[in-house]
Order: sequence, then structure tokens, then C-alpha cells
Amino acid sequence: MNKNTKIQLNNGKEMNAFGLGVYLSKEGDECINAVNWALQEGYRLIDSAALYENEASVGQVVKESGIDRADIFVTTKLWNSDHGYDNTLRAFDQSMEQLNLDYVDLYLVHYPVEGKRLDTWKAMERIAEDGRCRSIGVSNYMSWHLNELLANCNIPPAVNQVEMHPYCFGAERKKTVELCREQKIIIQAYSPLVRAKKMDDPPLLSLAEKYGKTPAQILVRWALQEGFSVIPKSSKEHRIKENGEVFDFEITTEDMEQIRNLNENKIVCWDPTQTP
Ligand SMILES: NC(=O)c1ccc[n+]([C@@H]2O[C@H](COP(=O)([O-])OP(=O)(O)OC[C@H]3O[C@@H](n4cnc5c(N)ncnc54)[C@H](OP(=O)(O)O)[C@@H]3O)[C@@H](O)[C@H]2O)c1
Repeated sequence: MNKNTKIQLNNGKEMNAFGLGVYLSKEGDECINAVNWALQEGYRLIDSAALYENEASVGQVVKESGIDRADIFVTTKLWNSDHGYDNTLRAFDQSMEQLNLDYVDLYLVHYPVEGKRLDTWKAMERIAEDGRCRSIGVSNYMSWHLNELLANCNIPPAVNQVEMHPYCFGAERKKTVELCREQKIIIQAYSPLVRAKKMDDPPLLSLAEKYGKTPAQILVRWALQEGFSVIPKSSKEHRIKENGEVFDFEITTEDMEQIRNLNENKIVCWDPTQTP
């Protein structure tokens, strides 16, 4: 595994296992610097969203990077207020305008908005046939949201981006992971660093010490070894570098299990289990 390792998607395309999240990286210098530093460090996947209001910065850096467009994987997402068939098509056009790229690699439904998500998916399927989008997927879908979608779709989602770290790895999340594995839907782990809220947790610190790594690096490596794609966020150059230095060690099977047992059902972002 290295920074450019790819995961096979269920539509025949590939996605990078490792990348940069840009939630709360402000449009303009902050986001531009973060994406530039990440690309210089060898990151090749950038995860944005209409909500983050930084698609223009992401698109600009990708265009001006001098790296082949085909070698960078760009994701953006449909925001909750844009659900519904026509709104989804319109929102996709707006994101493409902001990104100012010929195509996006992955377009995700940001959240399973109740009552609207099936109509939205029909538009997503149309978008999948548009030359401007390579793959479509979902985010924050738990097992029942996925089962509903799988029973009503022509094109299954290629990716499910969900909050994923050891501290939320309880029964519900495991069930979602199992279903995704069965259906060949790749899990992409968001908030993989638990938003830096667990960096001082003693068992995590002692594992970090054992491997000569930082807590953040243990969390990123854990996600990769679970077979998830992972998108840690930082807007600081030294942390972008640190979070990427996870390809020179391997967590043992026993320690992987120990890390899984850190679960506290702790959610730092949305809790989609509250959405029927
Ligand atoms: N689909 C969704 O609903 C959804 C929801 C949430 C997130 N996401 C995506 O997933 C990405 C990552 O999730 P996230 O941003 O929520 O949280 P995260 O990656 O778990 O944590 C980011 C936080 O940790 C800090 N940090 C980064 N590296 C660190 C390190 N090595 N040591 C200590 N602190 C560190 C960052 O601060 P600095 O920036 O100051 O370094 C930031 O405050 C997002 O950026 C976004 O792209 C998607």
C-alpha cells in the first residue's frame, strides 16, 4: 500500500484508498494551500462538497497542479436542501461550475434525506450517465437506507462515505460495513481522526508509542487495514504530511482487534441512525 493505492469500485472504476478532506478549509488561501501541500505530499484524492463552499479552490488547484487530471480523484456532494430530481440535476451543474473541471470522479448524496432520497437517486443515475461524472455514491447511509436504495435502484452506489473510526465502531456501524462488503460498496471513512478529540486517549497513545507513530497515524492506518478508503482533514502543512506517513508500518492482527474494541459509540458528526 502507498498514497496512490487504488480500490476497485463496483462499476469497474477505481478510487484512491487515501486522500484529503477539506471540510472547514476556507475557500481561498486556506483550502488552496491545503490541497497544494497534499498534492505535493503525494495525496491524490480530494474530498469536497457543495456545503464546504470550497469547490472552486479545489478545482483551481487540481487544474493548476501540473498533475494529470486522470491521476487525481475529486469528490463532491449534493447538499440536503438540493434533494429531489430537478434540484439534484441543478445542484450538480452548479458544483461543476464551481469546480470548473471537465468531470468529477465521484458525486455523493451527502445525507439520506427522508422522503426525498429515492427521487434524488433517479437524478444521480442520470448524472452517472453524464460524461461529467465517473461514479455516484451515498454518504451517511446506514443499513436500512442502503437496503431501501438497493431495492429501488438501477445503478447501485459505488461508495458509502460514513463516519468511521474505532470509537464509533459499534453494532450498527459494523452491520453497515458488512452490508457494504456484501454489496461491493466501498466504505469511505470520514472524521477518521475523531476530529482530534481522542488524541490523548491512553490506549491509543500506548499503541502509538509501540509503533513509533502518532495517534493520528494509528487511526488512519487502522482504517486502511480495515479496507476502508480514508480522508483525514488538516489545513496545516505538518499535519498533512504526518497523516500521510502511514505506509511504512503495519498494525498486527491482535492490535487491529484491540483498536476495534475502543468503541464507545461516539459520534462526532451526524448521527444518521436517527433518520428513518
Ligand atoms: N459526508 C459527510 O457527511 C462528512 C462529514 C464529515 C466529514 N466529511 C469529510 O471527511 C473529512 C475528514 O473528517 P473531519 O474533517 O470531520 O475530521 P477528522 O479528519 O477526523 O479531523 C479533522 C480535525 O483534526 C485536526 N487534525 C488533523 N490532523 C491532525 C493530527 N495529525 N494531529 C492532531 N490533530 C489533527 C484538524 O485540525 P487542523 O486542520 O487544524 O490540522 C481538524 O480539526 C472532512 O474534511 C470531509 O471531507 C464528510
